[in-house]
Amino acid sequence: MSRTGAAGTGPVPPGTDWDELAGWWRRTFANGADLEYELQILPLAAAGLAGCRRLLDVGTGEGQLARRLAAAEPSPELVVGIDPYPRQLHNAVAQSGGARYLQAAGEALPFAGASFDGVVCCLVIEHADDPDAVLSELARVLAPGGRLLLLVNHPVVQGPGSGLVDDTVLGERYWRIGPYLPRQVVVEEVDPGVPVRFAHRPLSGYVNPLCEAGLVLTRLEEPVPPLDFLADSVDLDLELAMPRLCLMVFERRAPMAQ
Ligand SMILES: C[S@@+](CC[C@H](N)C(=O)[O-])C[C@H]1O[C@@H](n2cnc3c(N)ncnc32)[C@H](O)[C@@H]1O
Repeated sequence: MSRTGAAGTGPVPPGTDWDELAGWWRRTFANGADLEYELQILPLAAAGLAGCRRLLDVGTGEGQLARRLAAAEPSPELVVGIDPYPRQLHNAVAQSGGARYLQAAGEALPFAGASFDGVVCCLVIEHADDPDAVLSELARVLAPGGRLLLLVNHPVVQGPGSGLVDDTVLGERYWRIGPYLPRQVVVEEVDPGVPVRFAHRPLSGYVNPLCEAGLVLTRLEEPVPPLDFLADSVDLDLELAMPRLCLMVFERRAPMAQ
């Protein structure tokens, strides 16, 4: 992956147009196309929100998480997916799967406070124009007793400048860690001709705003990447030793009964 820009050292790169990427996203990541989603992300999200009745998927894309949540037994009362990009939503609506969809940005959720007992935001916040506003909104709409699942690319080992280095000259393979603490915005060419903007922040940049908004971090998962997903790896042992995902589970504790 090549990085083509970084805030802090120059102007902040413009945001990604996810409408332009809607076809690529659906072909590459949805409906079984991506083993990491199939084997890990979708099952983790479904398990983490099991039992929730009113669910919100923030940055739903073409809706694969919302569909998965809506298929749970017993059926939830309501599953809503929101996304600001109409073509992503068009693809979500076309597949329906029991969820409802609304065009909205994570920075300004069109719901009253405490509307949902299950909220998920999966690989979205790194792409938002204002991640702090999204964090604040995620906390606001979570009802007492509710659960928020926040999934991000692991900021410690998958951040800008981090990744597997295969030095064929020196005959070395190792994991390089890029600058971790600085918040920076980079553009990565994730596929040929597909630039995507990522806003990096350290883990404290996710946890502390949500705790300050009254949530409690109850679990942090750093799952081993699925073996089948890494089938083409040049160094399986090294990649299995490095998490790709970080899943944080937050709760808004219900007030104690008097
Ligand atoms: C990497 S995709 C993930 C899609 C979906 N969450 C999934 O896991 O299948 C990122 C999604 O974030 C959406 N997005 C970008 N900026 C957003 C914002 N400010 N608020 C909500 N969603 C946003 C994009 O339209 C895109 O659908």
